[in-house]
Amino acid sequence: MRLVLLGAPGSGKGTQAARLKEHLQVPHISTGDLLRAEVAAGSPLGLQAKEVMARGDLVSDEILLGMLKDRFSRDDTRNGFILDGYPRNLAQAAALDDLLASLGQKFDAAVQLTVDNEQIVERLAGRAKAEGRADDNPESVRKRLQVYDQQTAPVVEFYRQHGQLTVVDGVGPLDAVFTRIIEAIAPEKAVG
Ligand code: AP5
Ligand code: MG
Repeated sequence: MRLVLLGAPGSGKGTQAARLKEHLQVPHISTGDLLRAEVAAGSPLGLQAKEVMARGDLVSDEILLGMLKDRFSRDDTRNGFILDGYPRNLAQAAALDDLLASLGQKFDAAVQLTVDNEQIVERLAGRAKAEGRADDNPESVRKRLQVYDQQTAPVVEFYRQHGQLTVVDGVGPLDAVFTRIIEAIAPEKAVG
């Protein structure tokens, strides 16, 4: 199964991807996690990305595509993947199509998790206290939501127009959201 997870910051992409990975036995590729690992390692790429991420802007398309190509060159992506956090603008959506075409692959579904902004702000404020992620402060959260509306929402429309979009309600207990995703994309793999 090849999945693209879409949704605003805090919509639950990472949380659900971790479960989907176990259930579908495919790797979870989070561009945010890959970037945070670079920042933590203090690599040149990490140093470049650090400030941009902390204020809630997008890191350059070029850096992202390089990272993605590198990750997709690993064998474990051959039989499927859950892509979380990419694409985030129309140029990235086109780059993903090209990359997958060059690998002879197509993704099965783009799943959008929908959560209202009020709940998102609440969730991220909770995570700020628990984990202290550099971009979970109120100002950066506002910026991330704005970037999502301006740059990522068109990607959702792009997939809708191409008949590739599955919209899933992301509000409710984690198990309930997970069940909704599985029922929407792989009902034969639903539990119970
Ligand atoms: P990224 O790491 O992708 O962050 P994000 O999109 O802002 O999303 P989050 O990781 O904050 O939220 P999530 O949807 O994964 O939700 P989660 O499961 O954690 O990107 C970070 C930055 O990296 C970007 O701003 C950008 O700078 C850069 N970047 C990354 N990709 C890029 C790209 N392609 N191009 C350019 N730049 C890029 O859940 C959030 C919280 O809610 C958690 O505390 C969780 O426990 C809780 N929660 C989850 N589900 C529920 C539920 N059902 N009910 C209640 N609480 C819940
Ligand atoms: Mg995440």
